[in-house]
Amino acid sequence: MQNNFKHLFSPITINGLTLPNRVVMMPMGSDLAGHTGELTDEHIKYYEKRARGGTGLILVENVCIKYPEGSNGTTQLRIDQDCYIPRLLNLTEAVHKYGSMIGVQINHAGASAMSSRIGMQPVSSSTLPSKPGGEIPRPLSKEELESIAKDYGKAAKRAQIAGFDVVEIHAGHSYLISQFLSPSMNDRTDEFGGSAENRARFCRMVIDEVRKAVGPRMVISLRLSVDEFVDPGNHVEDTLEYLEYLNDGVDMFDTSSALNPTIQYQIDANWLADGWRAYMAKAVQDKFHKPCVAIGNIRDPKIADDIIANGTADLIGLGRGLIADPDWCNKAKYGDVNTIRKCISCNIGCVGNRIGGNRPLRCTVNPDIINGDEYKKNQVWEPCNVVVIGAGIAGLEAACTAAEVGCNVTLIEKKDVLGGLATEISKIPDKKRLGDLPKYLIYRAEHLHNLKIMTGTEPTADFVKTLNPDLIVNSTGSVALLPPIKGLHDCLNNEEADVYTVFDVIENVENGTYPESFEGKKVIVIGGGAVGLDVVEFFAPKGADVSIIEMMPIIGNGLDASSKASTGACMEKYNVQQLTNTALQEVRPHSFVVKTPQGEIVEMPFDYGFICLGMRANAPVLAEMTALADSLPGTEIINIGDSVRARRIIDGTWAGRHQVLATLERMGFID
Ligand SMILES: Cc1cc2nc3c(=O)[nH]c(=O)nc-3n(C[C@H](O)[C@H](O)[C@H](O)COP(=O)(O)O)c2cc1C
Ligand code: SF4
Repeated sequence: MQNNFKHLFSPITINGLTLPNRVVMMPMGSDLAGHTGELTDEHIKYYEKRARGGTGLILVENVCIKYPEGSNGTTQLRIDQDCYIPRLLNLTEAVHKYGSMIGVQINHAGASAMSSRIGMQPVSSSTLPSKPGGEIPRPLSKEELESIAKDYGKAAKRAQIAGFDVVEIHAGHSYLISQFLSPSMNDRTDEFGGSAENRARFCRMVIDEVRKAVGPRMVISLRLSVDEFVDPGNHVEDTLEYLEYLNDGVDMFDTSSALNPTIQYQIDANWLADGWRAYMAKAVQDKFHKPCVAIGNIRDPKIADDIIANGTADLIGLGRGLIADPDWCNKAKYGDVNTIRKCISCNIGCVGNRIGGNRPLRCTVNPDIINGDEYKKNQVWEPCNVVVIGAGIAGLEAACTAAEVGCNVTLIEKKDVLGGLATEISKIPDKKRLGDLPKYLIYRAEHLHNLKIMTGTEPTADFVKTLNPDLIVNSTGSVALLPPIKGLHDCLNNEEADVYTVFDVIENVENGTYPESFEGKKVIVIGGGAVGLDVVEFFAPKGADVSIIEMMPIIGNGLDASSKASTGACMEKYNVQQLTNTALQEVRPHSFVVKTPQGEIVEMPFDYGFICLGMRANAPVLAEMTALADSLPGTEIINIGDSVRARRIIDGTWAGRHQVLATLERMGFID
């Protein structure tokens, strides 16, 4: 069998433990645990799938060492009592079966815990909150710190008994240890505050307790925020300094970055390049000569392989890349890299669900993070013709899914291009990653012999009838929402007016007709949702004077924590004027008339005015296809994705997979 990317897929030995390759699954809170803090069956299966996919080392998400005081997340795993050991052993066995190694990240959330969840005031090094506007914590006494350090040790021992190969101490990301290490959260004046040595003292106590508990032969990893991207805070040089007090106690460094206020550099925003922060791993590795993990938006195996080959880091951390595709390693090593379903760093299904959403992990590009490709085992009993109308994301996923279970599928698209809105939006430079999803789906579709793709084709009832459909899937997507606001319709598509939509931005980018700089130009964006913010982020760095107007009290409502931090930082950097509770009253060729929160009517002139009021369902042939299905015995029709209601892409991939499978099952074609 071929073996690509030889550097990435070479073994490495760390303190006597040999990993089969350099790929480390990063710890990622999942909310897949039961409410008691115990592993659920689906949780075990989720990790097992990533082991089966060839991951070298799996680091299980942050697990609570002191409950409830140190817990975070809606349903976080616990390791603070012996009763958690048996199911943890089930997990390590499930992973070891495939030759992967497994570690667990042990953690105390400190001030990042929420009193509403833990029922007490959160604790920390001092009274500084872990994020602006966060809860004021209670500083811990020396005696309490000694006791908590011992709790880490006991947790590590339980991990060892449960069969883990690695124990990772979480010392980054604004959790308790980081609340001591970072001057941004630690203003103590005793032996735990001030100098680098003092700030590192609690971490050192934890490392010593863990080492005492697990002995010299278990691998201890230390997760760090190497650059915290806050001031005052630790930057690379500061981290290299405090690590002098910690280095000899650990075997490897998991070199992450950022804190709560800069989460876009921790759970990387989509515009950050693959491996952009590998230099942090290199800095730590160069000084301490221990294996370091390079992390951050790494999706492309070639980039990962280069990082190892050129000595930047010894290990590659994949977080969301492995949520998106559990088989990333095996596909890269043995197969065709085009079949990798790359994470698009949208943060919707993972961060958006898990952090602040009280929901378990899901994924925009991967409609089944637990069961993966198991559906393919279930093939149709008898011939089944499926016609999918509309080749946006939902339609492509529906067509591929149906073909993969053995249906004869025809995918009809009116336009000449596939991928719908995702293909369009990905033409905006900072949205490039989004294009990886349609690219993957199109490649998958084109390699299915029983899937016929027809572009530039009108889906008429007469034509669809000739295909003898058993199932018709309507997935015709959405169009821009343009409410009946005075002047709006007249000004759009009017040569004399400077009023546009995001599609004009895309067209100008594609044709290269925009100037390099918009210095001195006034841009006003109506609508503070995701698309409006895309427009803001396009023009603000190019020198435009940008305002964004939103009728609701919040701009970016419903955005995940990372995207919110990223757009917030961009708007602050470029002084974007944010007007909330402000309603559009009238659109004029070169100005918007708005109503302020005080009820004042104000005219706002612009050079470029954008209408980004969202999308609405578009189902132009649904009635005709429904009538056709009704006229054909045994034929059914379903409507999926945006053509039901304009939603997020994650809802489209989900429906394309699950609604189609459920319908085929109900119709008796599959089990
Ligand atoms: C949903 C989610 C949960 C996360 N939870 C943790 C966690 O429990 N512990 C941790 O150290 N990092 C956590 N992270 C950060 C990841 O470990 C990783 O460093 C980050 O996602 C960047 O890598 P990636 O671009 O490969 O995803 C989380 C990230 C995501 C997306
Ligand atoms: S939800 Fe988006 S960011 Fe999260 S893993 Fe899936 S594709 Fe990546």
